[in-house]
Amino acid sequence: MKKIEDLENLEQKKILIRLDLNVPLKNNQITDATRIEKILPTLNFLIKKNCNIVIISHIGRPKGKVDKQLSMKPVCDYLSKKLDKKIRLIQENIFDFDPKTIFVNRETKIAILENIRFYEEEEKNDEKFAKILSNFGDIFVNDAFSCSHRNHASITKITNFLPSYCGLQMNAEITALKKITSEIERPITCIIGGSKISTKINLIKNLIPKFENIVIVGGMANNILEYKGYKIGKSIKESNCKKTIEEIFSLAKIKNCNIFYPTDVSVGKNLNDKSQIKSLSEIENDDLILDIGDETIKTIVHLIKKSKTILWNGPAGYFENSNFAKGSIQIAQTIVNTENKIYSVVGGGDTIAVLNKANTLKQFNFVSTAGGAFLEYLEGKEIPGIRALN
Ligand code: 3PG
Repeated sequence: MKKIEDLENLEQKKILIRLDLNVPLKNNQITDATRIEKILPTLNFLIKKNCNIVIISHIGRPKGKVDKQLSMKPVCDYLSKKLDKKIRLIQENIFDFDPKTIFVNRETKIAILENIRFYEEEEKNDEKFAKILSNFGDIFVNDAFSCSHRNHASITKITNFLPSYCGLQMNAEITALKKITSEIERPITCIIGGSKISTKINLIKNLIPKFENIVIVGGMANNILEYKGYKIGKSIKESNCKKTIEEIFSLAKIKNCNIFYPTDVSVGKNLNDKSQIKSLSEIENDDLILDIGDETIKTIVHLIKKSKTILWNGPAGYFENSNFAKGSIQIAQTIVNTENKIYSVVGGGDTIAVLNKANTLKQFNFVSTAGGAFLEYLEGKEIPGIRALN
């Protein structure tokens, strides 16, 4: 993939850049600006190179219709403040708009198109629409890894019409993902949590042949405990996943991957309860498994210390109640404090919330804010946005 940093003579070039500024909004206020903050180095790089910039992004899923609640206006205002620059929000219909007019006023160096998903052509990967979009730039940059699993006009079709490059964030994301899928420093351990085993089965199956250890924690470990014949009380579980679990264990055996699951647990009678550590044979009918127990934590800590690379996706327990955050926090702290250097990659909104709670977010080597794209890459699927750039 060609990288925008490697391109000479960017001076005065019009850069049409696809970003993922899909931030959560409440009453037109941004409630979490992480995705905007992450993209600032890319924009500052282009500003330094004296480029004119046209930003494309979406917010939410307006399904091809204008929805004022999903306007880019709050993002435009936030960015403008952060960069200390005027940013023009183009709310006119782009089918009737002349892009040549944007930078006529020399003071305007940055513009942002209104939510690109207000146009039904975007998700249809429409060719004519992509052609119209291409008139907004001399060069296209995709710096939206987290949208690149979508075969949409501003991600894939656009690359048919402009010289196309990958952006700084996209490059960082792919470099980190390669370090856990192809250029691995071993041993490598994956810690995987979350509530549904069915949503992670393809990922687990794809990682088993590549990883030495896979540790299954969180709600989805309950299914394994039940499969192994233990009582799990009132704990969350998924129905019909016996076959899935069998597949995991038989593939792991063939590929020599060690699968770990809890050997003791922390339970409560409800979500607001205090924690009680129990062995697997002590779980009662009215217990809720809400975290891993001390013996399990010890095993995981030992595994982490023996690993050179760690991928973590999904918390170990119901960390929203601090009484059940111990497992997740200990995992986070061990990864960042271990003496032998570990290359660590973390993904998933809940896991990022845990890292914030443990005050360790900045010490991880790479934190991915990409949800679906992160999982699809790890499942081994081809990512259309990357294919288009290649
Ligand atoms: C995300 O939030 O994962 C990206 O912005 C992609 O959004 P989408 O799932 O609506 O395509």
